[in-house]
Amino acid sequence: MNPRRHRLVQRRGWDRAAAHYERCWLRQLAPAHDLALATAAPQPGERALDVACGGGAVTLRIAAAVAPTGCVVATDLSPNMVAATAAQAVAAGLTNVDAVCCDAEALDVDGPFDVAMCSLGLMYVPEPGAALGELRRVLRPGGRVVTTVWGERRGCGWAGIFGIVDARVDSDVCPLFFALGAPGALSGALAGAGFVDVEQTRLRTHLDYPDADGAIGAAFLGGPVALAYARFSPEVRHAVHAEYLASIADFATPHGGYRIPGEFVVASARQP
Ligand SMILES: C[S@@+](CC[C@H](N)C(=O)[O-])C[C@H]1O[C@@H](n2cnc3c(N)ncnc32)[C@H](O)[C@@H]1O
Repeated sequence: MNPRRHRLVQRRGWDRAAAHYERCWLRQLAPAHDLALATAAPQPGERALDVACGGGAVTLRIAAAVAPTGCVVATDLSPNMVAATAAQAVAAGLTNVDAVCCDAEALDVDGPFDVAMCSLGLMYVPEPGAALGELRRVLRPGGRVVTTVWGERRGCGWAGIFGIVDARVDSDVCPLFFALGAPGALSGALAGAGFVDVEQTRLRTHLDYPDADGAIGAAFLGGPVALAYARFSPEVRHAVHAEYLASIADFATPHGGYRIPGEFVVASARQP
């Protein structure tokens, strides 16, 4: 994997996904977001950081928790995602959110922070250890970090999407996607970055979609393969839709929907 190219593909892909991400994924990700926020437990008055903030779903909940005197800095590699987070904060009437465009591996923010979160972002970073080092750098001594990643491939019923797309592009879309979901991988990465009091929980849940269009939209429009998908011809799109639906056929419900298994790992730790 070429890290520079990987970051470029991620940035362009998530720029495209920004318009669809929250509509396609928010409800399905709620159990993982709830657990991560309960673990981080942001308190009124705290300075918080949300890295790889996406459209701001977690950011806004942190902002509400630390208000009225606390604030949150939200960062993302994708300018469209940063703009979405800023717009969501304005729409929600939150004045304590600052949204910044930067790479998780080179945080352009002013610490120190009391608490830092990175929800479903580390899988896309070419060098997760570097991103964790950055989180450690900007946390105050004793500050908390909570990170969430997808779990193991076999626990994620939608994982066939990568092979289906990779077969039609010249490089893997997300070669390291499930690496941090392996047993002990995320907690090991946190310990390796110098964090202490590391704890990890594996959460098994389901992603519910009312129909095939909902499942296809989430997979192809609102996620990391959005860039590759945008370049597919109508014929190729038709083919990948059919292959994806075949890959999730075991999870079809009697009413035309899909109940797809999903697994997450939520890990917490502290800056010494
Ligand atoms: C699945 S979304 C997660 C959004 C949100 N945190 C959530 O939990 O819903 C992944 C986000 O990671 C961002 N991302 C990917 N690579 C990144 C990097 N190297 N640095 C910062 N953000 C990155 C993407 O732009 C995207 O917004």
